[in-house]
Amino acid sequence: MFKNLTWLKENKIKCLYLLKENKIDMIQAYDQYTQEDHEIWSLLYAKMAEIIPKYATDVFIDGMEQIGFESNKIPNFDECNARLKSITGWVIYPVPGLIDNKPFFEHLANKEFPASTWLRKREELDYLEEPDMFHDVYGHVPLLSNMHFTSFLENLARITLRHIENPWIIEIVSRLYWYTVEFGLIREEGKLKVYGAGILSSNGETQYSIESDIPKRLDFDVAHILQTPYIKDKFQEQYFVIDSYKQLFDSIGLLEEMVEKEAMANNEI
Ligand SMILES: [Fe+2]
Repeated sequence: MFKNLTWLKENKIKCLYLLKENKIDMIQAYDQYTQEDHEIWSLLYAKMAEIIPKYATDVFIDGMEQIGFESNKIPNFDECNARLKSITGWVIYPVPGLIDNKPFFEHLANKEFPASTWLRKREELDYLEEPDMFHDVYGHVPLLSNMHFTSFLENLARITLRHIENPWIIEIVSRLYWYTVEFGLIREEGKLKVYGAGILSSNGETQYSIESDIPKRLDFDVAHILQTPYIKDKFQEQYFVIDSYKQLFDSIGLLEEMVEKEAMANNEI
């Protein structure tokens, strides 16, 4: 599940390991963050703060406040978790970086959001190959304050876990995750707003997703999304727009039906 300890050391991952119930668990080693780390967080935060009020969904803005994000310091997971847990029952769960599908969906089904504890370097402010803590925490965690959104995520994970050995099911569920949790847009009071973490952790794509004439903006449609492959490492060619977070939650029944149908067609028993 985890990258090896040498890799962690070399990459100065700010974490500690605990042996808990016979498995190795990670915690955020908050005291190990340097002044430089906090400054990088502040720079990224300040850059987004200029555009968030105009482009981000209300849930993101309210969520940041409720969870207690501050502009000038890296969030302390324990403090955030105490607040988040009382709102939706979710917590941030420290991981070294990208993890395998099975533990990833198991954490989500267990109301734990996997998040890195390391932050990009100063020369990587605008582009990063692998999601860091700014993406995982700043981008994702505020939405975890919304019950319809978290129920959607939890159920999506539960459905996926039934077919975790089936690469086709992983592919189509990943498309739904991608076009909602990572790159979703929402209509709020007649305006287009961003709720996807892949967009909200990028200043450039936040503006592009709302203002640009280039991408298509399509109505949210589970069947359409499951048939739509996605692209990585560049701005999206299309976004899917929801009308409410309840619409996401209400789509779970249809997702379940379609996944089971695909699994059967895929000769899965
Ligand atoms: Fe993400």
